[in-house]
Amino acid sequence: MKRAIWAGFVLGAALLAAPLSAMAQPSAGETVFNSRCKGCHEPAIDRAPNRVTLSAMQPAMIVTALTSGVMVPMAQGLSASDKDAVAAFLATPQAGPDAHPAPAAAAGARPVSTMARGTDVMCKVNGPIQESATDWRTVGFDANSSRFQKNPGLKAADIPKLKVKWSFAMSGGSMPTVIGDWLFITNRTGKFYALDAKTGCVHWVQDGVSSRTTPMVVKSAISPSGWATFVGERTRVVRAIDAQNGKEIWRSAQLESNPVAGITGTPVISGDQLFVPLTSGEEPAARQLTYRCCSFRGSLVGLDLATGKTQWKTVVITEPLHDTHKNSAGVMMQGPAGGAIWSAPTADAKRGLVYVATGDSYTDEPTKGDDAIVAIEMKTGKVRWSTQVTEKDNFIMGCENHSNLPNCPTPVGPDYDFGASPILFTLPGGKQIVLSGQKSGIAYGMDPDSGKLLWKTAIGSGSALGGIEWGMAADDKRLFVAISDVINLFGEVPNVPAVTDDKMGPPKPGLYALNPANGKFLWSTPAPKADCHYAGDRSRDYTKGACIRAQSAAPSAMPGAVFSGTMDGWFRAYDPATGKIIWAFSTTAQTYDTVNQVKGQPGGSIDGMGPAIAGGMVYTMSGFQGAANTGGNAVNVLLAFSVDGK
Ligand code: HEC
Repeated sequence: MKRAIWAGFVLGAALLAAPLSAMAQPSAGETVFNSRCKGCHEPAIDRAPNRVTLSAMQPAMIVTALTSGVMVPMAQGLSASDKDAVAAFLATPQAGPDAHPAPAAAAGARPVSTMARGTDVMCKVNGPIQESATDWRTVGFDANSSRFQKNPGLKAADIPKLKVKWSFAMSGGSMPTVIGDWLFITNRTGKFYALDAKTGCVHWVQDGVSSRTTPMVVKSAISPSGWATFVGERTRVVRAIDAQNGKEIWRSAQLESNPVAGITGTPVISGDQLFVPLTSGEEPAARQLTYRCCSFRGSLVGLDLATGKTQWKTVVITEPLHDTHKNSAGVMMQGPAGGAIWSAPTADAKRGLVYVATGDSYTDEPTKGDDAIVAIEMKTGKVRWSTQVTEKDNFIMGCENHSNLPNCPTPVGPDYDFGASPILFTLPGGKQIVLSGQKSGIAYGMDPDSGKLLWKTAIGSGSALGGIEWGMAADDKRLFVAISDVINLFGEVPNVPAVTDDKMGPPKPGLYALNPANGKFLWSTPAPKADCHYAGDRSRDYTKGACIRAQSAAPSAMPGAVFSGTMDGWFRAYDPATGKIIWAFSTTAQTYDTVNQVKGQPGGSIDGMGPAIAGGMVYTMSGFQGAANTGGNAVNVLLAFSVDGK
């Protein structure tokens, strides 16, 4: 499972305060915690936030996680007041050996839970959206998912002069899209914002949008204003929204009934259709002895753009679902399952195909649908080809390091999902190739007509959190690959027991350029070991977070530069011809007085969908809630850079 993505999946909805009765009886919450949560959260198992991180969350977010989020399967049988009680209990700062100064200590004594709320400052003028030649309209920039801004409105020579022009505090923000002076971004607090791209004031804001997908924005007659945008919600529903005013145009049916499923990849438009990828959180759910593991199957849904009606749904695992064996608690297991689609699909209008990249398998039942690149016909939903690159990658959360959880598949696979969107690349001479990158750290080139594997190149050593995690970029000559290798990197953190998994090689975090025709290396630039200021450098204590130079976020390119961020909060620009670093900025070396009136907002690690480049400016999130053991990283700020900050 793509845990980094999943961690960022659940949103806090309205700010429900825990009822006073619950506050008055913390022991009720403590009882729930000890019996139902502690086993995974104190001490925290792999990706689970530790007790300290849970305490830094707003109670509403914890309730949402239990009610409609990733913790739904863990909260079975709990009443609403149990959920409120445990949230209230967790929100009470903890005394004792695990207590520590608030992660925001660097910025003053303010506890994290009061941060990143801010006050929206509305724009004085709300003119019509006006497109420009330098827009960034969807997560992958174009239908090919190139993440290559050909017309950035910014010269490479000016990049060393980039300075923060404005900042906006928000928890768990996604990657923004930009049309003219309008910037669109969803985030974990349940708000969908249209901001002014040049100043950060708010054009409109919609509450209760449980989505962190990057909003694709298109000119379309389906929208009264002529501009439409789309969000894929946690609840497996897609909403079409008028980009000019935030009003809903239509709402799709629930695209998947399995309660552990969700949407993390951006729904992508091609012609009069919208393609929606479905993913799941069944892996953490399946850790529980009582869970009937596993039944979720990744799918792509084709919708009519005008109405949101489902045209077809293609499930990537085709082997029939069947009962398999009883686990040690007597619960009947089932399978095969998995093949979650974490990332945005890539549209090939010429061939009438959509390419998707799938995640691992959850059970030991054989399937061909996982860890594959799949080409699906736009009109019919029929699978044209499917190329699996790793067989038997059977994994549920907690089964790494050969642990003996009752529901672990046998044998346990390496957890090498595809998290990155495939790139459709046109080679010199006009031939095309599908480029993909896997958490194994391996990049692949495939024939778009047949799916035939043309080349493969091992770049990173691979880890369950990448390898190649969120995305790659390609200009007109080169494929740019950021390598995370984060799990192996924990060995660099003082006081952390070395990773003993013999399958892992040495970590190779960094940015790499390959020749898209044959996968040969053009250059490689290791991630520098740089000062880490993140949350006052808590890297000395693994349990409280670690500053790690994993290069996990998706890179973005423009002529003369590739932008790429690292989990230690550094944001850098590279020369695409040589890999030389031409600009570096620590987003955590300072705090920010944000447009939404938060003073002293710190940044955090850079991870996730990466930067957008548009209108002469560059945008990145600093802080990604849920990144691997980076202390939970509850602090998040959207940073907007321009030449000299003007
Ligand atoms: C079986 C193990 C397990 C149990 C039991 C469990 N959790 Fe979790 N929890 C996890 C894991 C693993 C994650 C991280 C999920 C991810 O990032 O994919 C998590 C994440 C969370 C999050 C963060 C959600 C988010 O949006 O990132 C919250 C809040 C949480 N758990 C609260 C609870 C509470 C409260 C309980 C008890 C009622 C509980 N958990 C029980 C394993 C567990």
